[in-house]
Parts: sequence; C-alpha cells; structure tokens
Amino acid sequence: MEKTALNFTLNGAETGVFVDAGANLLDVLRRGVGDQTPKYGCGQGSCGACSVLIDGELHLSCLTLAETVAGKSVETTAGLAGGPELHALQKAFIDGFAAQCGYCTPGMLMAARALLDSNPNPSRDDVAEAISGNICRCTGYEPIIDAILAAASGSGRRFG
Ligand code: FES
Ligand code: FES
Repeated sequence: MEKTALNFTLNGAETGVFVDAGANLLDVLRRGVGDQTPKYGCGQGSCGACSVLIDGELHLSCLTLAETVAGKSVETTAGLAGGPELHALQKAFIDGFAAQCGYCTPGMLMAARALLDSNPNPSRDDVAEAISGNICRCTGYEPIIDAILAAASGSGRRFG
C-alpha cells in the first residue's frame, strides 16, 4: 500500500511518519511513532481510552483520520509530565488511588486536562460530565472524579 508523509507536532516535538491511506491516528501514534499511551479499547468511538488533544481539543484518536493532523499539535499523556515532574493530574491520580487496572487512565487524564484547561475550577458535575465519554471497566469513577477535583484545587498545580 502506498504511504504518504505526515508531519505534525507530538507533545511539542516535530514528528514525521509515513502513513497508509486511511490510517487512523491511534494506529499511527502507537505503531508509527511508538507513543503507546493512547490505548486501544473499542476502536469504534465508545470508550475514550484513545483520547488525545488536537490543537488543544479532546478527540478520539481511533476515529480520527491520521492525515487530518498534518501541521497540527497532538498531545498525549506521554507529554503530560514536565520532565521528571509529574503533572498535577498524574500526582492526584496516584495519591487518590484513581487508577485500578489503569487501562482507561490515559484517556481519563486527557479528558481531565481538556476540562481543566477550559475550566480550572470545575464542579463535581462538571468533572462527571467531562469524563462521561470515558469508560472505566473497573467502575472506579468516584476516585477518578475525586482526583480530578483534587488536582484542580491543589496548591502548586501545573497545568499546560
Ligand atoms: S478506542 Fe477510541 S473510543 Fe474506544
Ligand atoms: S482503571 Fe481499569 S478501566 Fe479504568
């Protein structure tokens, strides 16, 4: 199959990869450039495990045609930490035992990141709504919501 060159920014780094026509972004991230933080859950837009930010907006990478991110900024949980320092959301998830099996966690973190970027002081309902597209099969929603609220209210938090 003929491949085409795709250039975009991944977590702040210029990235180039050859992609098959019709390839989805999740596949390109995981297999093409080796960022396996977005997870393959359902592959059909139902679980949120593959969530990433594209130009700051939350998207399901399994439903995103890879070619559409040409020249754009893609962010995944691989880029959340600032060097050795974890993002406030990551710290809060660890401190609050908000990850059980952890499979949904990257998608949850990206949904939470998108929420806090637009609404730094969300209500509990805001958080529940923001992660409503993210399925946790371990049914750990309460600790996840608590962790996101803790990150939002914590001192010394670092968003962005
Ligand atoms: S893998 Fe994309 S929504 Fe489930
Ligand atoms: S922690 Fe297991 S699916 Fe969410």
